[in-house]
Amino acid sequence: MKQSHWLCTTLVLFITAVLSAQEKSNAELYESACAGCHGSDGKGRMQEDVAFETPLPDFSDCEFASREPDGDWYTVTHQGGPARAFDRIMPAFGEALTEEEILRILAHVRIFCEDKRWPRGEFNLPRPLFTEKAFPEDEVVVTGNYDTGDNEAVELELLYEKRFGPAGMVEVAVPLASFNPSIGGREAGIGDVALGYKHTIFHNLNSGNIFSVGGEVILPTGDEDRGFGKGTTVLEPFVTYGRLLPADAFFQAHAFAEFPTKSGFDDELGLRMALGKTWTSGGEFGRSWVPMLEILAIRDLTSGAKTKVDLVPQIQISLNTRQHILLNVGVRIPATETTGRNTQIVIYLLWDWFDGGFLDGW
Ligand code: HEC
Repeated sequence: MKQSHWLCTTLVLFITAVLSAQEKSNAELYESACAGCHGSDGKGRMQEDVAFETPLPDFSDCEFASREPDGDWYTVTHQGGPARAFDRIMPAFGEALTEEEILRILAHVRIFCEDKRWPRGEFNLPRPLFTEKAFPEDEVVVTGNYDTGDNEAVELELLYEKRFGPAGMVEVAVPLASFNPSIGGREAGIGDVALGYKHTIFHNLNSGNIFSVGGEVILPTGDEDRGFGKGTTVLEPFVTYGRLLPADAFFQAHAFAEFPTKSGFDDELGLRMALGKTWTSGGEFGRSWVPMLEILAIRDLTSGAKTKVDLVPQIQISLNTRQHILLNVGVRIPATETTGRNTQIVIYLLWDWFDGGFLDGW
């Protein structure tokens, strides 16, 4: 009798030891650290069940969740809401959880969005000045272009991009141009307005590849006689490719053809490529700096035509804490066929409007 009692106690002690040493599952970790606010289903607990007013995000909403890269969610979970200008009610778990535990919890959070057609935010690579991205965007970009040649041409382009379903995007680009002709004063006018559609047809986070196709119609809205437009509608089919590389580096490519609908214009073929790397200053959670080098090549589709090549070194910088307002500054330097082509200074200001208002998150 005595011996069996002793055996029983040993067995119980042994089982308890095994159980407590056994790792909690991802779901259990999420349940104990996050579900109290974010809910077991990831949709966020009801307002009356939590003691604060700040609305909780819905992790099962793919439109919201898919576009947030793990890196950003890691920062918010590790450092707390204010690290990305969110409410301080979102606690910092940097001390309570190990890096591995946070990553496992985030893997669980990813299960809540069940529709895999939405490309992940990791593919939302830094936007080069000229190369069209493969990722569908919700953003407004104002690009300024200053030509260092004699006529001091300045062009401002207003671009509006809006996502359309899980993988689509529509865009409108309106250019405004101004230059100093050799006789008379400065001239200004609207250029050729472009309408476009882009669709992501392949994306895989494990292999790091995203591929999209699209098309643009460039309308002859600019006054051709005054030098503000081509004077023909142009059809522009394109393909774009993005590739994640190790150590936050990336490669992007964009190939297109231009088919003017009016006779007397040459068809053109273009290729744009960008290589870059994201650096973060002020520790792991600070401002992002993205140096990039773009190569632009374009040639007429006539035999014997020469290829014009430009190099565009540039740097993109995040301006605010939320990192959804970005500045890019670069120089477009003609490398071949340089006669009559000048170096240009190119700048854009980008607002990723889905992530918050222009004045939010500073
Ligand atoms: C005390 C309540 C609370 C707990 C516990 C909590 N959160 Fe949060 N979390 C919030 C609130 C509130 C927000 C929204 C903040 C805002 O919008 O300003 C938030 C926002 C977030 C966001 C930002 C989403 C976005 O908009 O990009 C992430 C990621 C997140 N939480 C992850 C977690 C994880 C992972 C855990 C568990 C380890 C956790 N949270 C635990 C309250 C909480």
